[in-house]
Amino acid sequence: MTIVAPSLLASDFLRLGEESQMLNESDADWFHLDVMDGRFVPNISFGLPVIAAIRKSTTKVCDVHLMIEEPERYAEDFKKAGADILSVHLEACRHLHRNLQQIKSLGMKAGVALNPHTPVESIFDFLDEIDVVCIMSVNPGFGGQKFIHQTIQKIKNLRQRIDANKVNTLIEIDGGVTLENAKSIVDAGAHVLVAGNTVFSSPDPIATIKVLKAL
Ligand code: DX5
Ligand code: ZN
Repeated sequence: MTIVAPSLLASDFLRLGEESQMLNESDADWFHLDVMDGRFVPNISFGLPVIAAIRKSTTKVCDVHLMIEEPERYAEDFKKAGADILSVHLEACRHLHRNLQQIKSLGMKAGVALNPHTPVESIFDFLDEIDVVCIMSVNPGFGGQKFIHQTIQKIKNLRQRIDANKVNTLIEIDGGVTLENAKSIVDAGAHVLVAGNTVFSSPDPIATIKVLKAL
């Protein structure tokens, strides 16, 4: 079964408690939480206090996607706020391996997010030390963008390597996931689907999550 990670960036912030409750009652596996600093990406979203509040509202996995420069400065704070998985962008890390070690030493699962133009091959030598590879299928910064089609081949290449090396790394796809393209993404080898607008703009988010989950 596919792991479904609704992105709360697309939720109604005025009703965050109810949105969280809805996800708790759904088949969603992870809460995907997008943190943006206005430097690594041209947008600012939410940060530590909001994540700490969401943490109190759920026992599901909190999957925090950091789209920030110098993420090592905040890893400990995100652990305290309740992150279970902390993903940093390869493009924002001068010493990625050190950052991954830091995240794991704090007791979180370590994720690496890759921008659309970053080859998946760049992390091939370290897959056994990465819990989640988040392949961005849009340029990070905004929800509601169109899926970049070259992502499908990247998923296939990464999945092949994961299977060949017999590692447990999960492939997460983030950006532009819809009910129309989700099956081709899973068929290419993805384990985790992030979905923002597809879930929160749906007339029936719980049913939409169920459809994604069954892929
Ligand atoms: C984009 C974020 C995504 C975003 C996905 O920078 O990382 O998680 O919320 O939103 P949709 O699913 O609407 O493309
Ligand atoms: Zn994200």
